[in-house]
Amino acid sequence: MQIIAKGLNFVYNKKTKFSVKALDNVDLTIDEGDFFGIIGHTGSGKSTFIQHLNALVPVQEGVLKVGDYDLSANAKKDKKALKTLRSKVGMVFQYPEYQLFEDTVFKDVAFGFSNFFPQASKRETADAVYEALSLVGLDPEKYAERSPFDLSGGQKRRVAIAGVIVTRPEILVLDEPVAGLDPKGKRELMKLLRTLHEKESKTIIIVSHDMDEVAENCNKVAVFSEGKIVRKGTPKDVFSDAEEIKKLRLDLPLTGYLCQTLKSKGVNVDCDLTEEDFIRKIQEIKRG
Ligand SMILES: Nc1ncnc2c1ncn2[C@@H]1O[C@H](COP(=O)(O)OP(=O)(O)OP(=O)(O)O)[C@@H](O)[C@H]1O
Ligand SMILES: [Mg+2]
Repeated sequence: MQIIAKGLNFVYNKKTKFSVKALDNVDLTIDEGDFFGIIGHTGSGKSTFIQHLNALVPVQEGVLKVGDYDLSANAKKDKKALKTLRSKVGMVFQYPEYQLFEDTVFKDVAFGFSNFFPQASKRETADAVYEALSLVGLDPEKYAERSPFDLSGGQKRRVAIAGVIVTRPEILVLDEPVAGLDPKGKRELMKLLRTLHEKESKTIIIVSHDMDEVAENCNKVAVFSEGKIVRKGTPKDVFSDAEEIKKLRLDLPLTGYLCQTLKSKGVNVDCDLTEEDFIRKIQEIKRG
C-alpha cells in the first residue's frame, strides 16, 4: 500500500484561542517497501502526521490516501473499511509498554488480535499470538504465561509490538521505537524492525530523534519543522547540508559528521551514511 498526502493542514483546538497549527501544507509520498524515517525538532508535527495514517487524527484539510483507503477531508467515511485499515496500518505509540494491562503476555497480545477479529476461534487466536511472539523474538513457550510486568523494559516493548503485529499489518508505524532503551536494547530493537521489514510488514515508518538509527536503517527520510516538511530524500541527500541541519535543530549522524570533517581536510568520502558503506569507502581510499 502506498501512502500519498497532499496539502495536509491540521490545527489543534481549532477556532479557540488555544489553537495550534500542527501540520502546514504537508505533501509526502511513502512507497510500499520503504523503511521511512520521520525526523524533526520537538513539536514539529511528527506524531500528528503519523496519527493521520490510520485515522486516529482525522484529516481537516487536504488529501490522504493509504492504499485504496481515502482518508481525505472530503471523502466519505465507512466505519467497516476504517476498521480494516486500522488492522493493516499498525501503530506503535511512544512507550507502548505503558499500555500493557493484562496479567499474562498471552492475554495482552490476544487483546490486539480479538479487537479486530472478534469472531476468530480460540485456536486461531492462539496461533496468531504465538506467531507474533516468535516474530518479536520472545519464545512463546517461555513467555506466553508470564506477567508482562515482570519483564525488562525491552521485553515489555516487544510484547507491545507483538500486540500490534498480531494482525499482520502491511504498514507498521512506530513513534520513537527505541526511546528510553539502553544502547544494546536500541540495537536489538532496530534489528528486530529490520527482520520484521524483511519477513512481515512491507513498509515501516519510524519517528526518531536518533540520527544514527535513521541513517543506518531508513532508505528515505522526511524532515519536519514547524509543521512543514522542509527536506525529504535519502539520508545522504537529507544530511548533505550540515549547516541547514543545525538550523533545523538536528544533528548529523556520526557517519555524516565524519564525512564532513574529512571533507574539510580534503578527503572526500562519498558514502550512503551507513556504517558499512562508510568503512568500505575508507578502506578503498586507504588502498587507492
Ligand atoms: N492534543 C493536543 N492538543 C493541542 N496541541 C497539541 C496536541 N498534540 C500536539 N499539540 C501541538 O501540536 C504541535 C505538534 O505536536 P506533535 O506532537 O505532532 O510534535 P512532535 O514532532 O511529535 O514532537 P515530539 O518530538 O516532542 O514528540 C506542537 O506544537 C504541540 O504542542
Ligand atoms: Mg511526537
